[in-house]
Amino acid sequence: MTHPLRLGVNIDHVATIRNARGGDHPDPVRAAQIVAACGGDGITAHLREDRRHIRDKDLRRIQDATDLPLNLEMAGTEEMLAIALAHQPHAACIVPEKREERTTEGGLDAAGQHNQLAPIVTRLRDAGIRVSLFIEASERQLDAALRLGVPVVEFHTGEYAHAGLDGDAAKVEKELKRIADMAALAAKNGIEPHAGHGLTYENVQPIAAIPQLAELNIGHYLIGEAIFCGLEPAVLRMRELMDHAR
Ligand code: PXP
Repeated sequence: MTHPLRLGVNIDHVATIRNARGGDHPDPVRAAQIVAACGGDGITAHLREDRRHIRDKDLRRIQDATDLPLNLEMAGTEEMLAIALAHQPHAACIVPEKREERTTEGGLDAAGQHNQLAPIVTRLRDAGIRVSLFIEASERQLDAALRLGVPVVEFHTGEYAHAGLDGDAAKVEKELKRIADMAALAAKNGIEPHAGHGLTYENVQPIAAIPQLAELNIGHYLIGEAIFCGLEPAVLRMRELMDHAR
C-alpha cells in the first residue's frame, strides 16, 4: 500500500547563515513559518553539540511560531536528552554526531550502541516523544531498532546521493534497492520508515516512489535553492516532485 509521503523541512542552514554574522538574520523561525504556510508537513532541526546552526533558544521559538510538528535531531547524550525532555518535540531522531564532521556522515550504530541507547529511547518514549533512529539501511541496524522498540527509523540516503553525484549508476541502483528492501522490512515489522540526507530535485523521485516511506527530511538543498528562488517555491517544487513519484 502506498502511504501519503510527508515532507519535513530541515531549517538548520538558515541558522548557519544567521550565525555567520552573529546577529538574528535570517531567522529560522521565519523559515518555519513559510514552510507551514506552503504545505510542509514538519520542521526538522538538529541541535548539534557545537551549536553551529540551530541554538537552544531557537527550539522554543520554532515551536511557538508554528503548529507543525518539530522533529528534533539529537545526539544520544544526556545533555540532548535533557533538552528534548524540556522541550517536548513531537519527535526526536537520534543521530550519530562527530564534532569534526561537516554533516551527519553515516548512520547511527544502533546495533553496537544498544546499551547506551536503550535508556535514552525509554526516557524519550516515556515522555511521549516519538523516537526515531537515523540508521543505514541494513538488516543489522533494523534488527537493533526493533530490539530498542522504536516506532520510527530514518534511513540515511547519503550513499545513494553521493553515488548519483559520482555518476555511478550501478551504485545508485544498489543503494536504492537496499533502501527499498529495508523500508519494506521495517513496515512489515511495524516500524514506520523515513529517509533523508542529500536529497535534491534530481534524486528525490526514486526515493519518494518507495511505497512504505512515510516521510522525507530535506534541508541543505532546499535552503540552497531558496537563495535563488525563495523558500516557498523551493518547498512547493520538492512537494510536487515527491507527489508525482507516488
Ligand atoms: N535527516 C537527518 C537525520 C539529518 O541529520 C539530516 C541533516 O544532516 C537530514 C535528514 C537532511 O539532510 P540534508 O540537509 O542533506 O537534506
